[in-house]
Amino acid sequence: MPKTAAIILAAGRSTRMITDLPKVMHEVCGRPMLAWVVDACRAVGIDRILVVVGYHKEVIVDNFANQPDMVFVEQARQKGTGDAVACCREYLDDQDTVLVLAGDGPLVRPEILKLLIDKTTQERSAGTLATAKLKDPTGYGRIIRDEYGNLTGIVEESDCTPEQKRITEINPSYYCFDRSAIFDALEQVQPNNVKGEYYLTDAIKVLVESGRRVVAVTAVEPEDVLSINSRQQLAVVSRVMESRIQDRLMSSGVTIIDPENTWIDARAEIGQDTVIFPFTYIHGHVKIGRNCRVGPFAYLREGTALEDDVVIGVFTELKNTRFDAGSRARHHSYLGDARFGKNVDVGTGTITANFDGKKIHQTWVGDNVYIGSGSILVAPLHVKSGIQIPPGTVVDNKGEHPESGQK
Ligand code: UD1
Ligand code: CA
Repeated sequence: MPKTAAIILAAGRSTRMITDLPKVMHEVCGRPMLAWVVDACRAVGIDRILVVVGYHKEVIVDNFANQPDMVFVEQARQKGTGDAVACCREYLDDQDTVLVLAGDGPLVRPEILKLLIDKTTQERSAGTLATAKLKDPTGYGRIIRDEYGNLTGIVEESDCTPEQKRITEINPSYYCFDRSAIFDALEQVQPNNVKGEYYLTDAIKVLVESGRRVVAVTAVEPEDVLSINSRQQLAVVSRVMESRIQDRLMSSGVTIIDPENTWIDARAEIGQDTVIFPFTYIHGHVKIGRNCRVGPFAYLREGTALEDDVVIGVFTELKNTRFDAGSRARHHSYLGDARFGKNVDVGTGTITANFDGKKIHQTWVGDNVYIGSGSILVAPLHVKSGIQIPPGTVVDNKGEHPESGQK
């Protein structure tokens, strides 16, 4: 592979999202959208990733701190995507080619990046971009080709003639450029457009007019091009990403009864033969073993870990809580900062009182414990193995219940 770096554009403030957060920090399936783009670059072996930041840059820089392959380049004023790329020039003198991606396009697939790098090298072109054909191309830059099908330029929607608006081939902003060609071309780009910005897309026209070839390959599936400019698009892209996550899980032997009514975070791990029932929401680093049953209407939060053969049923919320093999909480519980041993039966409506108004406390429950319905486990608490707690008990270490105590 030629020496290749990536530039991810993330400086814009996103007027259309109506937000104080940098757009790329909005989450798609539990991760900032920028993290997905970074991952796609890493998956093809890119070890220098320049992120162009501007609007609330500190939020992005803090979130991605201590990642040695990432470099943050400041674009002081957001003068357009062309200007954003130009800001990176001095960091890339030793590179052959550069990938350029938009931080608001988390659906980009590594296979496409590989294709772009390979094509740019094989064809010795000034650059390659991947395009897609969309039924509704509204909002995207349109691909302009000559009568032989060669790319001649990209026109932004706001600059399109009515005839150009009817073009359905669009620019998803997935590019690979020859390094020196793109930076030289950017020097000639002028902000002659409705928005008065320096457009990266205009650099392509500059290259073509100077006799260089830029290749546009129609290679992207419509559901892989969607980028996020509004809350509505955030919801649509999140759904597409969610179905990729669920597809991966189902391919590894997990049953998801009703995929459309289930949300599973990208960071969750789920074992074979586990069944996820409808309206389950799993958020964060959640680990679920084999042969478990989760839901319907279960809410599993950060730090939940279930060993094999665990049952978590209807209206049960778990946070930072571990269940050893074979334990069950079948109905209506909140269990936070707790650890349950093997073969524990948590009765309907059992609650951990894990917060005393100032601090969070832990609950430890041994093996083979039976907790009667409607009990409250007041943390910090140890419950010995093997005991039975009658229904409706308030269990705490102060001795209200005779059988609770140090494990
Ligand atoms: C851009 C493309 C358009 C393409 C679309 C695909 C240009 C001119 N247009 O349009 O052809 O169809 O993406 O999603 O490139 N950014 C900066 N600095 C700036 C301006 C933008 O870093 O000065 C960043 C934004 O934060 C964003 C990305 O560049 O992550 C794209 O900018 P955006 O304004 O969303 O471009 P589009 O209008 O969507
Ligand atoms: Ca965009």
